Amino acid sequence: MEEKVTTLTLRKFKKEGRKIVALTAYDFPTAKILDNCGIDMILVGDSLGMVVLGYQSTIPVTMEDMIHHTKAVSRAVNRAFVVADMPFMSYHISKEQTMANAARLIAEGGAHAVKLEGGEEIASIVKTIVDAGIPVVGHLGLTPQSVHQLGGYKVQGKEKEKAKKIFNDAKVLEQAGICALVLESIPMELAKNIAENISVPTIGIGAGPYCDGQILVTHDMLGITQGHRPKFVKQYADIEKIMIEGINAYIKEVQQGLFPDEEHSFTLEKRENK
Ligand code: KIV
Repeated sequence: MEEKVTTLTLRKFKKEGRKIVALTAYDFPTAKILDNCGIDMILVGDSLGMVVLGYQSTIPVTMEDMIHHTKAVSRAVNRAFVVADMPFMSYHISKEQTMANAARLIAEGGAHAVKLEGGEEIASIVKTIVDAGIPVVGHLGLTPQSVHQLGGYKVQGKEKEKAKKIFNDAKVLEQAGICALVLESIPMELAKNIAENISVPTIGIGAGPYCDGQILVTHDMLGITQGHRPKFVKQYADIEKIMIEGINAYIKEVQQGLFPDEEHSFTLEKRENK
């Protein structure tokens, strides 16, 4: 069996220039497929709210949602590094509540690390979690839990001052002890500058090719997500099309009485005539 990916492996990959490959998962079968394919990092993202639970944003996602889905993913994974998102307001109310929530994602959920959105303003709580022995992944740039403050899902850090703030936040989070940093929807020049100037691996999503690794939302890249797809998403498969074809074939066969046939039915045991 291949060695498990740990915080040390991620650092080693950065040092060696070996790109870290990450995707999201929210359930057992998807996590199993990703792990078997050799994905290095699996994020149980709060994107769960939008791609699986049907919310308009990640804001309604609760701790209970995250623990439920993190448990399912952890049960499936043998090799990958599993990261669970701390949901909206689960790390802002008090230090005690933050610590209890981070601990639940590790102890009950089975995650190897937690991910928090934000920079300097959350650095002290990041340090407290890290000091308690829980690895933390940072998240800068477009931070979806702040969508109302940001005024929409827009590229961040295009202006010099804003880019400077994101760069400074990355340095502050590095000092606070993060083990990796997600950079979402920022100019590639800024992502390159951060990747070259911090010791922890950067994982980009809409941040260009210079990060130490890449992550996408699995439902987006496999063509399961319906509706708007951001510019940075490359679609590698059309699962929606495959599902529609299969479901339509089933509807037709049931309506025509072709399914179930003998092959998919049971018969009474045949009695021997004595
Ligand atoms: O929730 C999520 O899936 C994320 C990724 C977009 C990085 O945070």
